[in-house]
This record gives sequence, C-alpha cells and structure tokens, in this order.
Amino acid sequence: MTASDISRFEGLPDSPFPRLNALIEGVEPGNSPLIMSLGEPQHAFPAFVTEEIARNAASFGKYPPIIGTEVFRHAAAGWLGRRFGIAEHIGKDRDLDPDHQILPVNGTREALFLIAQVATPPEKAGRRPAILMPNPFYQCYAAAALAAGAEPVYIAATRDNGFMPDFEALPEELLARTAMIYFCSPANPQGSVASLDYLKGLIALARRHNITLAIDECYADIYDREPPAGALQAALAIHDGRDNGKGGDPFANIIIFHSLSKRSSLPGLRSGFCAGEKALMQRFRNFRNIAGPQVPLPLMAASAACWNDDGHAAANRDLYRAKITAAERILGNRFGFYRPAGGFFLWLDVGDGEKAAHELWAKAGVKVLPGAYLSREDSPYGPGGNPGRAYIRVALVGSETETEEALSRMAEAL
Ligand SMILES: Cc1ncc(COP(=O)(O)O)c(C=O)c1O
Repeated sequence: MTASDISRFEGLPDSPFPRLNALIEGVEPGNSPLIMSLGEPQHAFPAFVTEEIARNAASFGKYPPIIGTEVFRHAAAGWLGRRFGIAEHIGKDRDLDPDHQILPVNGTREALFLIAQVATPPEKAGRRPAILMPNPFYQCYAAAALAAGAEPVYIAATRDNGFMPDFEALPEELLARTAMIYFCSPANPQGSVASLDYLKGLIALARRHNITLAIDECYADIYDREPPAGALQAALAIHDGRDNGKGGDPFANIIIFHSLSKRSSLPGLRSGFCAGEKALMQRFRNFRNIAGPQVPLPLMAASAACWNDDGHAAANRDLYRAKITAAERILGNRFGFYRPAGGFFLWLDVGDGEKAAHELWAKAGVKVLPGAYLSREDSPYGPGGNPGRAYIRVALVGSETETEEALSRMAEAL
C-alpha cells in the first residue's frame, strides 16, 4: 500500500442510503412502494419563492458575495430575534451584529462540514484533536471531523439519557483535547429537544475547555408544542457582561446553523445561514471567501422573503403535527412510540432495525432507514454497542394520506 492509498476517510462508513439500497436489493416490495427513509420535505413551498427568483433572475449574471446581501442578513437576524425572543440583542452595536456575525450558506451541510476545517487546530493539549458528536448523528459531522484531521468521538444519545449526550461525564483528558462539539436540537433522528439548562451547561463546559460548539438547529421551526430553545438564547441567559476571554462576546465559542430546507420545505434551494461568535465568524468568513460556496443572488432574495415570513412556517408545522397525531393514533404505544418534541422523524424501537427495514419493504413496500446506519459503535466513553441498532427512522415527509397508509401497513407488518 502506498501513502496515497491511505485515505484519512478510512473510518467513514458508506452513506446510509446506498447501504439501505444494498439491504433490499433484489427484494420485491410487498405493496406499492412508500418511501419513508429520506428526510426530504414534500410539502409545498411558499409560492412567493418562485416569484422572487424570477424577479431577481438578472443577478444570476453576477458572482454573489460570500457575506450575502444586507437584505438577507437582516431577514435572517429578524427571524432569530422573533423566534428566540432575543430581538433587543440583535443589530449594529448590539450583541449580534447581522453584518459581521451572520453568513449565508449553501445549505447547512456544507457549512457544518467547513466549520470543522476552521475550528480544528493541528493539535490540542499536545495530541490529535477530538471532535465529539452525538451517537446517532447527522453523517456529515464525522466526515468533517476526519477531513479536519480530528478523531470523531461518538457520544451515546439513548433513551436512558433522554437522547441528550452526557458531555459533562467525559474524562478530562478527552475534553482537554476536544476542539469541537457537534450538537443537534431538535435532534435528527430522535426528535429530542435540549432544554435551556442543558444548553447553558454545554456552553459553560465548552468555555472551560476552549471548545467550539457547532449547534445544528435546522429543525428549530418544526416542533410539537413548545418552540425549542436555541443556543444563542442560552448564551444570553448566562451572559453576565464579564470578560469571558473573548472580549465579553456573549456568543463566545458558539456557532449555530439554520436552514430553509425543513422550515420552508425547500431542500433543493440549498439555503441556510450560520451565526455566532464575532471572532469565529470573521475567521469563517475569511475562509469561505476563498473556499466556500456562495448562495446565488436570486435564491438569496427568495430566502430573505422566507425568513421574513412566519406564516408559511406555522402552516408547515401544523401539517407535521397532524401526521404525528395520526402516528400516535395508528401506532399507540407500540415500538416505543412517543411524540417527538421537534423535527419530523419517528424513532421506533423495533428490536432489530435492519431486520425490520428488510421486512417492511418485503411485506409492505414501506422503505424506512435502519437506525444502525445513522450511528456507530459507541466510543470507549459510553455504554458500548451501536445505540441505533434496535431502531428504525421513519420520515413523516409525505402527504397525510400517504403517511397514514404507510403507518397502517407498518403496524400490520411488524
Ligand atoms: C440534522 C441535520 N443537519 C443538517 C442537515 C442539512 O440540511 P441542509 O443542508 O439541507 O440545510 C440535515 C438534512 O437532512 C439534517 O438532518
């Protein structure tokens, strides 16, 4: 083997979707196929999106600036202020300056990947840095950690800990060499939501160990009852105005990620934004100016209109809520069903997720994702095993009729 044969991505498994296709290859679906494996929203997106793109189409002839337009940044900032009740903290010369602390991103996936490249030093505490993430997790986090030369460390998020990884319990030697923590709330796949207190604790931990927190909040506007708390909100709640080593920046050590893919059912628009610590955002902006993908200007105009409008997001949320209610009716307390506090996935304990996914396809034509494909063998710091093995993830992204049909078939087949 030559040096060029050895990839730093050696530890990266195949994407969950080709794995699922391989699992059911050659198996005839037992009924007309219903696809519940992919988290791709199918609801209609707002009609004004098409109009905005058409109205701004001439600017396809321009390279978009990496910092986006003022209109976009202020629309995103306005939404953050309304959604998290922090409007008085946002604005020029306030805690979060939209012109310096918000960046548009070409879908949050690329930004979640690239932030690790900026936030990971070559060494930390004299050793290879670690990047922590929940287990199960959005697969991009692991690719990002490996690309940054860090060791991805998977921290179990199980029913026993309310699907909230216990970062506090980790040994000092690991925390000392941790460069970054990825954290997702509402969580994909479990739909669990971090409390304000959990987020406050996580921020305090990150500051004690000089860790960057990459907080993935892309499901923030899809929730069942209470709007989930956000990391900026938690940071403001603990801010006492004293110097925290970052010039008193209340958002020290934090970057958050938001997306229109779920909120506005626009996964194909590739549009989101990130916001956070002033110095980190400056470094990210400099890096992105050379290496980052920009958001095309007509799409940015449409995105600004989406962030300015909460009505369509509320209607979208109602559609998901109705499907969760249907699931509750159809599944009852089978498969450990619970109403997810946020997001649009069911995380069902079926004993053996891979076997169940195979069976559901063969008997009922319903395609779901085995939980094990979203998680990894636990790190030596946790309870061991693959915490997703017993589960399937069911994406409630189709129409209500289709969803009810799929859930009824599932209840019958399993
Ligand atoms: C947890 C999580 N984070 C990030 C993303 C990326 O979303 P996008 O790149 O469409 O903004 C997804 C998409 O499925 C996701 O589930």
